[in-house]
Amino acid sequence: MSYQIAVDGPAGAGKSTIAKSIAKRLGIVYVDTGAMYRAMALFMIQNRIAKEDSVQISKKCKEADITIEYRDGEQVVLLNGENVNGLIRTEAVGNMASAVSVNKEVRIKLVELQQKLAQTTSVIMDGRDIGTVVLPDAPLKVYLTASSAVRARRRYDELTAKGESCDLNKIEQDIIERDHRDMTREISPLKQAEDAILVDSSDKNVEEVIDTIISLAKERNLG
Ligand code: DC
Repeated sequence: MSYQIAVDGPAGAGKSTIAKSIAKRLGIVYVDTGAMYRAMALFMIQNRIAKEDSVQISKKCKEADITIEYRDGEQVVLLNGENVNGLIRTEAVGNMASAVSVNKEVRIKLVELQQKLAQTTSVIMDGRDIGTVVLPDAPLKVYLTASSAVRARRRYDELTAKGESCDLNKIEQDIIERDHRDMTREISPLKQAEDAILVDSSDKNVEEVIDTIISLAKERNLG
């Protein structure tokens, strides 16, 4: 029997690092839904559509064919057939993704794809609305968070390690803005599902968070 683990939380809480490791440990598939919104954002940027232009976003998203493949266990996002993994991890695409993801047509399209992916295989899926909208019946839902200062510091370290120059205060400001937009949008805002377990990673390292979630899975006889 396949099962699902839903992981939601704000930007920079460590969702993808943690979900990816848990997928390996439990031998299930990791689905990064943020990458799908990022691919859609990239498509809008490439087509020079402004983030405020909701009419054009609603129209244009129908031309974006977004699919997921797994190569050597890694999720590869294809935008109209092209592997865009290398193009979607910038702050600019992340900010555009947050803006594009308020759009109803975009969400309908991507949620459908996510639900299809979880139908036949066991998955750990991370995002903002997985426990509340995409997989409301998931047997384990985790809401993973950390303070904005800790999240900004982690993002800063990640970007500087990649050689991108950045400003810590600006990153924290962007995180606060993005949280606000993700939590107050009309459709599927980021919020903790009623039956989700809150895990605060501010004072925990990656291994401690992984162990916490694996224990929660075992308690539910998953994996
Ligand atoms: O997790 P991330 O930073 O890659 O996500 C980028 C943006 O996509 C995020 O600001 C909000 C949006 N998103 C969403 O609305 N719903 C999801 N399930 C995943 C991401």
